[in-house]
Amino acid sequence: MEITAAEGFTAAVAGNIRDAQIQIACQRPDVVLIDLKLPDGNGMDLFNDIESRATTEIILITGHASVETAVDALRLGATDYLTKPINFRRLKALLSRVPRTADLKTEIGALRTELRRLGHFGQMLGAAPVMQKLYNHIGRVAPTEATVLLLGESGTGKELAAQTIHDLSLRQKHPFLPVNCGAISPQLIESEIFGHEKGSFTGADRQHKGYFERANGGTLFLDEITEMPIELQVKLLRVLETGSFMRIGSNQELETDVRIIAATNREPEDAIEEGKLRLDLYHRLNVFPLKIPPLRERGADIELLAQHFLDEFNAAHATSKVLLPDGAACLGTYHWPGNVRELRNYMQRAFILSDQTIDAAALTPTMATHAPTGLTLAIPVGTSLADVDRKLIFATLELCGGVKKRAADILGISLKTLYNRLEEYGPDELPQKSEYFYNEEKEHSVFPKDVLHKNDLYG
Ligand SMILES: Nc1ncnc2c1ncn2[C@@H]1O[C@H](COP(=O)(O)OP(=O)(O)OP(=O)(O)O)[C@@H](O)[C@H]1O
Ligand SMILES: [Mg+2]
Repeated sequence: MEITAAEGFTAAVAGNIRDAQIQIACQRPDVVLIDLKLPDGNGMDLFNDIESRATTEIILITGHASVETAVDALRLGATDYLTKPINFRRLKALLSRVPRTADLKTEIGALRTELRRLGHFGQMLGAAPVMQKLYNHIGRVAPTEATVLLLGESGTGKELAAQTIHDLSLRQKHPFLPVNCGAISPQLIESEIFGHEKGSFTGADRQHKGYFERANGGTLFLDEITEMPIELQVKLLRVLETGSFMRIGSNQELETDVRIIAATNREPEDAIEEGKLRLDLYHRLNVFPLKIPPLRERGADIELLAQHFLDEFNAAHATSKVLLPDGAACLGTYHWPGNVRELRNYMQRAFILSDQTIDAAALTPTMATHAPTGLTLAIPVGTSLADVDRKLIFATLELCGGVKKRAADILGISLKTLYNRLEEYGPDELPQKSEYFYNEEKEHSVFPKDVLHKNDLYG
């Protein structure tokens, strides 16, 4: 009691689960300290009662440090655990870190830290600081009901992150349904998502349950959300707002209890600008945005992942091929536009092509031909500055696959300036790719290698 007061909390005490339930309901506490063994049950049973888990921190107290129970507790959303006898210094430290508001909570539990030091979080591998930060955020948001928007380049692991969020949520026993909005034909997508009644359109010869019904109680992962037809985005927004929907051909409202995780590998601002994503839907989805970092920002994780994939291939083929240090070192010099998926493919190719050892020579040939670090812009002396600007802008856009936000970042200009320029140049001005690019470095390059690296093309 004294300690909690010293940390600026008021405290209420409950001697059993029943009391605790009552207290929690009336006080809506910032933090709950729960003993695992209570006279009328297990302290973990209380977890289901703390509705506003997003704003209540749970600290578990356990007599014997059973790692399994602690892991279970953390999975269910506990912030941390303390073992008896209680170390008051740790309790004080924990309390001092409890956020008093529903702000994004960035503090982490001891066991989570441990998991991360081992270099993984569920199925997600990697120990880089950017990944630890991501795990932290995933651990925070997973047990809540918040809608999550996953942003990140192709192959960074958005689907894996979505699955991890589901696995760490209270919905884990219910379905996780991934839907690739870009892969379903626009004619079918509405009926796939919302379902239809028999006879509601030609070919609808029986009733069909859509993803919302099938994912009930679980999580619906809407991948490539910007590919969803815009009319359907209106309907989706309605479901998110009202929690109910109708099958095609029916006017009966059906309740749905589905958590949405959406993902895109585009810059949302660009997609909105281009009319591919509705602004109101974006605001709805953007409750908790999570950026999955590109592989090239993950340092030594590249090697860790490469080794992991190699282990997988070795296990599958009963071989014991090894990655040599020079091979591992060269992986770090590449910029990995296709991220983890590309790394896996590279390792697979190297695995197939090598006998016993995989060295730099086995890995570099494929990388060199794809590396945009060799891209240069040839500008003859005598070109006007205005022309250089224009060429550089188009070349950068090309390099960024047309993603204007990234191009603007690299060029060091605002997105607005970039749009103004493009408008000035007009649509007829679009250059042919071959006009500018070739793969060898030339002396008069205005697009030096280090500039590309420093600004981190896709960041
Ligand atoms: N941190 C990671 N640890 C281990 N494997 C990973 C990790 N991130 C991604 N992968 C693997 O890389 C591949 C690509 O991941 P995933 O499909 O989740 O990417 P994505 O971001 O959804 O890609 P896209 O934008 O192309 O849909 C998968 O095989 C996945 O298992
Ligand atoms: Mg994906």
